[in-house]
Amino acid sequence: MTPDARLPPGAVLIVLGATGDLAHRKLYPALGCLAARDQLPSSFSVVGIARTEMSDADFAHEVMESIAKVHPDAIAAVNALSPTIKYVTGEFDDANAFKRLASVLDALDHDHGANGSRVFYLSTIPQLFEAAIGGLSGAGLNVDPEGGFSRIVIEKPFGHDLASARELNDFVHTHFEERQIFRIDHYLGKETVQNVLALRFANAIFEPVWNRQYIDHVQITVAESIGVEHRGTFYEQAGALRDIVQNHAMQVISLMAMEPPASFDANAVRDEKVKALRSVERMSQIDVGIAVVRGQYGSGAVDGVPVPGYREEEGVSPTSETETFVAMRMMIDNWRWAGVPFYLRAGKRLAKRVTEVTMRFKPVPHLPLPTSAVDSVEPNAMILRIQPDEGIRLEFGAKVPGTGFMVRTVGLDFAYREGFTEQAPEAYERLLLDVLVGDATLFIREDEVDVAWQIVQPIVDAVGRGGIPSRTYASGTWGPTAADAILDAHFDSWRNP
Ligand code: BG6
Repeated sequence: MTPDARLPPGAVLIVLGATGDLAHRKLYPALGCLAARDQLPSSFSVVGIARTEMSDADFAHEVMESIAKVHPDAIAAVNALSPTIKYVTGEFDDANAFKRLASVLDALDHDHGANGSRVFYLSTIPQLFEAAIGGLSGAGLNVDPEGGFSRIVIEKPFGHDLASARELNDFVHTHFEERQIFRIDHYLGKETVQNVLALRFANAIFEPVWNRQYIDHVQITVAESIGVEHRGTFYEQAGALRDIVQNHAMQVISLMAMEPPASFDANAVRDEKVKALRSVERMSQIDVGIAVVRGQYGSGAVDGVPVPGYREEEGVSPTSETETFVAMRMMIDNWRWAGVPFYLRAGKRLAKRVTEVTMRFKPVPHLPLPTSAVDSVEPNAMILRIQPDEGIRLEFGAKVPGTGFMVRTVGLDFAYREGFTEQAPEAYERLLLDVLVGDATLFIREDEVDVAWQIVQPIVDAVGRGGIPSRTYASGTWGPTAADAILDAHFDSWRNP
């Protein structure tokens, strides 16, 4: 593959929290892929910083192991990087650790042509964000070096409510400018999430019907079959609302609902996303009680395998009220979407892993056929399958062959894996490359974080007051049956894929 022409000639990726789970599961394998596809700057180095004592060679070995686990074929390409992998031992509240980091970076500029181009990746728990940012700033690493850049990548969760997100934004801004900040939501790195833009704005046939004249409602499902796994302690503080709804789900909604941007420039796209989210109706405390359902998985079976309930998971309180499922009804008060409900449900330990968006169309204005002919016809639907088996499906009525006149719903399917031979990059691979080239289109801007929290905050408040009890659902099902009650009366079930 030809390297991206926007790549700088040299750069360093500095991983803060270098020994952590995210770094090993996602970042290093993504680097391996970029190296194998020849998509890294020609002089590239990695510097890890964490508490554990370790030598450069030991850290390089760990990075290689993590890459080999996921992409054994990439090892040859990353072997060349090995000598430029460095490690700094230190706590984030220790100014000396950052001084040591600064001198390692100066040496890489000098000896390995890194040219002062630096990406600092905060791969730590959120409680350490401020210390890490303060440490970088204290060592002057927040300032663009001459001829290079200093960029910071911040992982979710970005705040645990609106007030803390605002505080964090203010804090980051006292040290970094917005143009240097890349807030990651890995959903935006997914090919099919980006394809919403291609589908809508590179085709003439979809956009004319993408509005309240034709669409009856939109259903968004973010279903996982896994439980909280080893992240019980973290999840207890988050719940599905903070873990999925405030970020991944809001991103999908904003891309579905936004107006066409003037260009694909980072700010033009993000301006439109923010505008769409600003139009989402803010729920009153009364609306919240009616339009939001929370659930928590009990024991059950997923794919025939018995699994424990959430309260029995490691790190979870046996009396926990944290939700592992949320269903909600949202209205978008603007010219395009007024009156079209957007239904969202997200949860863990559901029947299967699937993320998809269904646009359900309105019925035809007049049906010249006897009702008996269309008995088994559903209204038209367009389904965007984001994962797995990425693709698009159109459902419409067709005549059943025969001498009579019966209409039945049929489907027209497009599957990515059949339509393209090219391999889609992993989300983190795509996003790391974008940070290196300085393209912020797929990153969350300050005002996006804020507006997404504004939408979710009334629900957080109601939960805090005990206003939305969490209902138990059996693992391996589609969540609590109460989730059906938020649907409009004229259709009574979610589309279960
Ligand atoms: C993460 C959440 O952001 O997204 C996890 O913290 C969740 O709880 C994950 O499992 C889902 O991502 P993906 O890419 O597997 O759909």
